[in-house]
Amino acid sequence: MNPDDLDDVRPATDAEAADVVAMHAANLLAWDEAAEDYERRLAGSISLLSSGGHSLLPIETALLGNLHGCARAVHLQCAGGEDTLSLWRIGAAAVVGVDFSPRMLSLAERLTAAVGAPATWVQADVRDLPASMDGTAALVFSGRGSVMWVQDLDGWAAGIARLLAPGGRFVLFDGHPAEWLFDGDGDGGWLLTDYDYFGGPEASRGWAPAYIERLSVPDGQQHWKFAHAWTLGEVVTALAQADLRLVRVAEYPVDWWGGHRDVEPAERGRLPLSFSIEAVRR
Ligand SMILES: C[S@@+](CC[C@H](N)C(=O)[O-])C[C@H]1O[C@@H](n2cnc3c(N)ncnc32)[C@H](O)[C@@H]1O
Repeated sequence: MNPDDLDDVRPATDAEAADVVAMHAANLLAWDEAAEDYERRLAGSISLLSSGGHSLLPIETALLGNLHGCARAVHLQCAGGEDTLSLWRIGAAAVVGVDFSPRMLSLAERLTAAVGAPATWVQADVRDLPASMDGTAALVFSGRGSVMWVQDLDGWAAGIARLLAPGGRFVLFDGHPAEWLFDGDGDGGWLLTDYDYFGGPEASRGWAPAYIERLSVPDGQQHWKFAHAWTLGEVVTALAQADLRLVRVAEYPVDWWGGHRDVEPAERGRLPLSFSIEAVRR
């Protein structure tokens, strides 16, 4: 599944791409709309977390390690809070979720009330985090479909560095930008798409069903949104130029969102579909 399979996909115009604030404002409206899909999954999240389970992938728990002793973990772009509370489930004493979508955060509040977790929720854009959060995190985590929605990588990276207490850790696990270069050929193999790896932000309307299930608002009437599959070099450079020491960058054939299930597992194992970055606050 490729975003180009959606009907309404086009490169952002130069004027759109120059206006980060407007792109993020559009994304907020689109994500508030998409919260409907997370709402459908709320009962499942409550039952998972109430029974002591968590929603993190094995690769994520391996990256995060033992969180017992982590006083406060901040989860950026936390959506409905399932992964945030999962950080608590695997040991963090307290968790904070940050998202700009009020509808997502109201789901997170409902999840917290049902599960009884030591969590707080902050409505903020990741490039404009409240100064009161500076230096408060032993761990900042971000994952699975987060970086592509941020149109200002330097502002994002600076915010992460500000959030972390000295010596605090940043862990990112996300989709690999190269995954858009390939799509299933319908026969279990790969074919090259016409995706431009070095293109800028892309505007789209509607969601790939493997990512967000159909919403009650028809695709063609949904809000436009802007995604940018930043190259690995751009992500690494932004973090390296913030007050962070990079510890490890790794790539994996892990298809975290199930967008390539139509490709044979052996074929999927040949391409980088996700990556991680670990860094420490200087
Ligand atoms: C795919 S979801 C991330 C889901 C998360 N990884 C999880 O599994 O819980 C992307 C989230 O990022 C949020 N988001 C996108 N851009 C943001 C921004 N600039 N600031 C804060 N939140 C943002 C959206 O509201 C949405 O909840």
